Amino acid sequence: MVYNGIGVRIAGTGSYLPEKIVTNHDLEALVDTNDEWIRARTGIEERRIAADDEPSSALGAEASLRALDAAGMVPEDVELIIVATITPDKIFPNTACFVQKRIGAKNAVCFSVEAACSGFVYIFSIAASMIQTGLYKNALIIGTEKLSSIINWNDRSTCVLFGDGAGAAVLAACEPEKNTYVCSKLGSDGNYSDILHVPGGGSCCPMSQKVLDENLQYLAMSGQEVFKLAVNSMVAAASETIEQAGIEVDAVRWLIPHQANTRIIKSVAKRLGVPEERAFINLTKYGNTSAATIPIALDEIVKANLVNAGDYMLFVAFGGGLTWGANLIKWQ
Ligand code: ACO
Repeated sequence: MVYNGIGVRIAGTGSYLPEKIVTNHDLEALVDTNDEWIRARTGIEERRIAADDEPSSALGAEASLRALDAAGMVPEDVELIIVATITPDKIFPNTACFVQKRIGAKNAVCFSVEAACSGFVYIFSIAASMIQTGLYKNALIIGTEKLSSIINWNDRSTCVLFGDGAGAAVLAACEPEKNTYVCSKLGSDGNYSDILHVPGGGSCCPMSQKVLDENLQYLAMSGQEVFKLAVNSMVAAASETIEQAGIEVDAVRWLIPHQANTRIIKSVAKRLGVPEERAFINLTKYGNTSAATIPIALDEIVKANLVNAGDYMLFVAFGGGLTWGANLIKWQ
C-alpha cells in the first residue's frame, strides 16, 4: 500500500552461498546420524559452510554487491543498510557497519536487527516504512548468517539442521503505480525466549570457562515445541497479511517461507490453502540459514524468471524470540 504518495519497489536482489558443501553423508562421520533420518525429518540433503576467513559480513557483502549490480546502483548510492543476523561478526559494532566497510557504501546509515529467522521479514518492513516516510530514498537489506560458528558439531539434534549463506535486496522509492510493497504483519512473544537460543556468551551469562565447559555458547533448541509454534505463528502471520491486503489466498503465486523444515513448510501451505507447488523450497541444498533463507529464495526465484509482473509473493517466517512475520509483495 502506498503512503505519502511514495511507492517502494524491489530494485535488485542478490545472494551468496559459500563454496564448501557438506552433505548428510559427511555428517555421518561426525555424529550418530544418517542421510535417511535427516531427509525424512527435515528435507535437507546438504548445506554450505563458510570458510574460516568468511564472517557474516563477508557473505553479506558479496550478496549486496550482486543485489546492487542487479539494481544498476553503486555502493556510494546506498542511503541505508540494515542487516538481519544472529551471527554478528562481533558483539559490536553492528554487522551492517562491517558490510558498509567491505563494499564501500560510505554514504549509508547502518544498523542491524536480531530477530533470528524472522530477521529479513522484520528488516523488509522496517526499511519499507523508512522509505515511505520520505527519510531515505533507498535501502540495502541483508540477511546473512554464519550459523556454523554457533553450532555444536557434536550435537546431532541441531548440527544437521543449519547452514551458512546470505541474501540481499535493494528497496527504492518509486512512483505509486510502480509500488511493489503491499503490507506486513509482525509479531513477537518473549515468553518463549528459552526454547530456541544461545544460552551463554551474552551479558546475562558472559563468556567464561564454565560457559565453554557446558557448551553454552552454542545454539540450543526444543525441536518439537519449536515445530508446533512455527506452524501456528506462520499460518497466523500469513493469514492476517492476506486479509489486511484484501486479497484471496489463490492470488498468491509464491509462498516464500522460512526454510527450516519441509514438514513445517508443507503444513503451513496446507493450512493456508496454498498448493504445495507454490511453496518455494530450497532447503534441500542449503539447510536453515536463518535470516538468509528468504532473501536467498527470493533471489533464486527472480534469477530463474519464475515471477511475472502482477504476481503476489508472500514471505513468511518464524524464529527465536519468539518472532514471526509476513510481507506481501506485488511484483512489478
Ligand atoms: N539423526 C538421527 N537421529 C536423531 C537426530 C539425527 N540428526 N536428531 C535426533 N535424533 C533422534 C532423537 O534422539 C530421537 O531418538 P529417540 O526416539 O531414541 O529419543 C528421535 O531421533 C526423534 O527425535 P525428535 O526430536 O522427536 O525428532 P523430530 O521428529 O521432532 O525432528 C526436528 C526433530 C527435525 C529438529 C524437528 O523437531 C524440527 O524440525 N523442529 C523445528 C526446528 C526448527 O524449525 N528450528 C529452527 C527454527 S528457526 C530459528 O530461529 C533458528
